[in-house]
Amino acid sequence: MLIASQGLSRRAALTGAASIVATAATLPCQLQAREPGSAANTLGSLGAAKGLLVGASFAMHETERPYGARYRELYIREMRSLTTELELKMPTVRPSRDIIEFEPADQFFDFAGKHGLPVRGHTLVWNDNVPQWIKSLNTLDAGYHMDAHIETVLERFRGRAFAWDVVNEPIAPWDRLPGNLRAGPYLAAYGEDYIARSFRLARQFDPAAKLVLNEAFTETADDLGQAFRASFLNLVRRLKDQGAPIDAIGLQCHLKSGKPYDFPRFCAFVEQLAALDFDIHITELDVDDSAYPRNLSARDLRVAALYRDFLTAVLAIPAVKVLTFWQLADHTSWLYYGDTEKRPRAVSRPRPLPFDQHFSRKPAWFAIADSLSAMPPR
Ligand code: GLA
Repeated sequence: MLIASQGLSRRAALTGAASIVATAATLPCQLQAREPGSAANTLGSLGAAKGLLVGASFAMHETERPYGARYRELYIREMRSLTTELELKMPTVRPSRDIIEFEPADQFFDFAGKHGLPVRGHTLVWNDNVPQWIKSLNTLDAGYHMDAHIETVLERFRGRAFAWDVVNEPIAPWDRLPGNLRAGPYLAAYGEDYIARSFRLARQFDPAAKLVLNEAFTETADDLGQAFRASFLNLVRRLKDQGAPIDAIGLQCHLKSGKPYDFPRFCAFVEQLAALDFDIHITELDVDDSAYPRNLSARDLRVAALYRDFLTAVLAIPAVKVLTFWQLADHTSWLYYGDTEKRPRAVSRPRPLPFDQHFSRKPAWFAIADSLSAMPPR
């Protein structure tokens, strides 16, 4: 943990930090794709055989649980990239005005580097996930700290992440603002320009990384999904017109059992984004199974079917270059943790991911493997 002393420049505050040795992020390729479902195949190797980078969010705190060794092994075996789940979120890195906490992120990059797994840095600027102390600042200071945060993080990790989710979730129709932009301190500080500004700063401080604008809620075939798709597409067009240095569009894709989907319609929207010359990254895929039947096998099959329908449609689009799950094993999912808090005595828990609580493959794994095997190469 570093102390960001008052009056000390950000740069000076960081000078005492241990110097970072950049680790070349190379894709491990020890596993070759054969048939889906065979023990030698992994989701990572099946994707790699088609030119698709397959990864998942990973959390350092999970490695400290009793199952930590098996958790690490699962990622090393199955994945070709890791996304920071919490380690780089601003409340972790800047818990207070005086503290810069890089230890979890340092451990994360060390682990990923040791195993040759490229890192996706998540996320630099997000109006919905702001440390409390930022919320108490005036708009001028909030803007200053947005800039400072981008510079501080990228100075430390420059060249070590293959991609950064630079701005997360810029749209929130429920805030009822022009353009359906999400309210928050950075929008208040700079207006819509907080987005282009963040990308320009990110390019300046980490020129080689892919810079990504990441959005949620664009998948559903309901009014909310439609509002997200229309507002987000308009925003992306404005940003492109302004020359904001965006390399890829991230679509989170937290799918939900209780929601209506029309994947051809969603794919038409993805194609519109791709036509603007952006790569597409699916960044946070999982399936909230809460509205599916109680019977576990029936539930697992429904989850698998939704993965299959979604991936068959979206992986047919050549611009989709990255597929990332939000965690890999059910008991490490945010949905599982959320349910444990909400229903502490419940006997069954969410099963949103391709691996169960024993790190064994579920029907979802096989459906995903089939979709990867059937997709056209990039
Ligand atoms: C959002 C965020 C992620 C994570 C997930 C699930 O979509 O982008 O950082 O918080 O929700 O928790």
